[in-house]
Order: sequence, then structure tokens, then C-alpha cells
Amino acid sequence: MTIHIGAAAGDIAETVLMPGDPQRAKWAAEKFLDNALCVNKTRGMLGYTGTWKGHRVTIQGSGMGMPSLSIYANELLRDYGAKTLIRIGSCGAMQEHVGLRDIVIAMTASTLSTPSKGLFRELSFAPCADFGLLEAAVAAARRHGATTHVGGIYSSDVFYDERPDLNEQMVRHGVLAVEMEAAELYSVAARHNARALAVLTVSDHLATGAALPAEDRERSFGEMVAIALEAAFN
Ligand code: ADE
Repeated sequence: MTIHIGAAAGDIAETVLMPGDPQRAKWAAEKFLDNALCVNKTRGMLGYTGTWKGHRVTIQGSGMGMPSLSIYANELLRDYGAKTLIRIGSCGAMQEHVGLRDIVIAMTASTLSTPSKGLFRELSFAPCADFGLLEAAVAAARRHGATTHVGGIYSSDVFYDERPDLNEQMVRHGVLAVEMEAAELYSVAARHNARALAVLTVSDHLATGAALPAEDRERSFGEMVAIALEAAFN
């Protein structure tokens, strides 16, 4: 076990799906995995390991924001030998052509700062997705008939953003959506020679203020889990 994950050595699969919300980890494990066992309860950040179509998978909550995700990603890669981390979560659309319920697959993640930033000093590291995973996720999303956007996203540290000028620059530079974890996920995975991807559903729109009702969020979340699993084992 590690400081933040109570799982025994060998309890974590090489492929880990990471929703922000630990209750979503439970929901996805019950819906998608065979023989799912709860392998982590530390701080209520639930993790489950089971199989999907015979492949061993862990679904581990990451919490919200890059500092929280960074702890789990580091421990999964460094201490448990995970090789593939796929974030499944929600995002806020930043472009007019990106609608509620659409799937956003993040090729890159821009950010003001990540917990990894100190390593790079004044260099502006460009966190990017694993191309093989990205390609497979795009193909899976299209098979599901999902309206899919592939491109750059913005990993912000603030949900209640009081600096709209920065969002404006993101919009102007074609960034598709905002969330709060992918840039650090991609940076930590790169450091550990692991594969990473963020598959997101649009839960709200920054320009219009529209937001998905709770029932729709669950349906969109299920589609995202299926896409992530198909991408991981394509
Ligand atoms: N995740 C979902 N919607 C978001 C938003 N508007 N800002 C940051 N993260 C989000």
C-alpha cells in the first residue's frame, strides 16, 4: 500500500480508468466490470479492480484538480506498475460548435501551472496524449455515434473562475473545453513512460451557461467508460 492507496501489491491492473468522482468509480465498476473488487477506500477515494472482456482493469477515483490527481497518478505508476491511465470526466465547452453531451478527446492540455511545473523551470512543457490511445478512442467514439471533437483543452485550477480574460484567450486559440486534471495526468504519464488520455463529456457550456441535468450526466458517463475501455484494449 501507499500513503493514499490502500490496495495490496498486485491489486491494481496495468490499465486504470480515472474518474474524478469516487462514486463514479463504483458505478462504472458495477456496470462494466466482471468480478469487481473494491481495492481502495482510503479517504473515500474508491478504487475497484475487475475484468472487462477478460482484460484486467482498475477504476480509481482521482479527486478534483491537478494536485489530487497527481497523487493518485504518481502512486499508480510508480508504486503499482500501472502503464495506462485514462481520465474519464466532464468538461465545460469553450467553442460554439461544441455542444452538451458531446465527447471531447484531449490531444493536448494547456495550463497556467501543474504540480509538475517546478521540474521544467522556465520551459513551457506541452502535455500531450498518447497517440495510439487517442486514435483508438476516436474510432470507438465514432462507433458509438457520439459527436466527437479532438483537439486542445485547458486544464484550469479554478472552477469558479474570476479571470475571464484567460478563458477568452483559450477560446480565441481554438481550445475546445475546460476541465481541471488532464495537463498533470499527461505530464506525470510522460515522466513514467506510460500512456495517458483524457476522454471527456461536455457537462456545461461557458458561453451559454447551459448545463446537463443529472440523469443525462449518468448516460454520458456510461458512454465515456465504454469508449475508454475500447480504446485501452483495441
Ligand atoms: N468540468 C466541467 N465543467 C467545468 C468547468 N466549467 N470548468 C472547469 N472544470 C469543469
